[in-house]
Amino acid sequence: MSDFKRTILITGGAGFIGSHVVRLFVDKYPDYHIINIDKLTYAGNLENLKDIEGRPNYSFEKLDVCDFDSIHALMLREHADGVIHLAAESHVDRSIKDPFTFARTNVMGTLSMLQAAKLYWESLPEKWAGKRFYHISTDEVYGALEITRPEGTKGNEEAGGGPFGDDFFTETRKYQPHSPYSASKASSDHFVRAFHDTYGMPTIVTNCSNNYGPYQFPEKLIPLFINNIRHRKPLPVYGRGENVRDWLYVEDHARAIDLIFHKGTTGDTYNIGGFNEWKNIDLIKVLIRVTDRILGRAEGSDEDLITYVTDRPGHDMRYAIDSGKLSRELGWKPSLQFEEGIEKTVRWYLDNQEWMDRVTSGDYQKYYDSMYKNR
Ligand code: NAD
Ligand code: DAU
Repeated sequence: MSDFKRTILITGGAGFIGSHVVRLFVDKYPDYHIINIDKLTYAGNLENLKDIEGRPNYSFEKLDVCDFDSIHALMLREHADGVIHLAAESHVDRSIKDPFTFARTNVMGTLSMLQAAKLYWESLPEKWAGKRFYHISTDEVYGALEITRPEGTKGNEEAGGGPFGDDFFTETRKYQPHSPYSASKASSDHFVRAFHDTYGMPTIVTNCSNNYGPYQFPEKLIPLFINNIRHRKPLPVYGRGENVRDWLYVEDHARAIDLIFHKGTTGDTYNIGGFNEWKNIDLIKVLIRVTDRILGRAEGSDEDLITYVTDRPGHDMRYAIDSGKLSRELGWKPSLQFEEGIEKTVRWYLDNQEWMDRVTSGDYQKYYDSMYKNR
């Protein structure tokens, strides 16, 4: 038996959100053994976790979540008592081109994690006691909302309305995914709930809005555009840039995951979001203004980089998460104002050009071999 109080497997820990969750848990819980399980696809970057490499309560396993036998063997060997499952294919545009990979990783991979945990935990004398399977999902499973508030009019935000309409996604909203990505995440959410309802497995699902912050792969809007502004490259805005997304700073998501993992009710679902809706084009203009200012350029001078391109097929118009349940029941609220979060994020990407260069050149993929191959 190990000396650690708990052993938690975090899947997808080399990715964007996963790396923040791994760092938070390794720092905050020296008495937990945190095992990062990641296949290191193009989106997995162990350099995101350089600062915690070598910590006594952290280890890394290069594994595919679909590899049921290896995952099950690892759970037995390490006496895993918690799983925080983030590993997934996460980019909507890629899912439109290659839906099979999304079904494999997001659906079969989740099922494989669930089944491995179930077999292991059911074999123990205490069974489910002290165990937890926490699945990280997205607001995109709920489908799309309309923009119902005309441009320039003010919503009744004190009465719970949003700047673009009064309709929000709550936890009881019916699932209506539109993209292959969101369809695969919806399917995985259903499997997690099915394991709770059928076998009594202690599961939790959370559905979060768009995350932003350091270490995000530069295929996603915010890091891609900051890097393009820096290098004065075109900014490809899909459609008219009218779509609305609800943005949350990634460390606030990680804090919510910590809270829910420890205090959430099993069998339950929680929405996570910042009540922070932005039309894409307005957000892009903020990014340009902040990046220009930090780079010492005339603010807004890079707006001519905006290039309207063909819209994403099936592009959901608006997402808006109601995270009221999480704040009422567990007292969570985002810690950062958006202006502060964007300033930190732009500065991070500009200050970490080497990280960006290693990602865009592909050199980040050599890090695993240099650190782990001969261990
Ligand atoms: P990401 O693409 O940055 O990272 C995904 C990680 O999973 C990578 O490290 C990758 O190597 C790993 N991975 C992929 N396939 C794997 C496999 N078969 N086996 C093991 N590891 C594998 O993703 P992200 O943006 O950090 O998202 C993490 C999770 O959070 C996903 O489940 C996503 O659906 C969910 N989510 C993301 C957001 C967001 O805004 N990014 C919002 C809500 C929910
Ligand atoms: O809502 C949560 C989801 O947010 C997560 O589940 C996904 O994993 C995550 O990728 C993100 O999905 P989006 O599709 O909303 O994120 P993305 O950064 O790809 O796009 C944000 C918005 O910007 C979206 O309306 C599409 C638009 N966009 C995106 C890119 C990459 C552009 O206009 N141009 C671009 O080049």
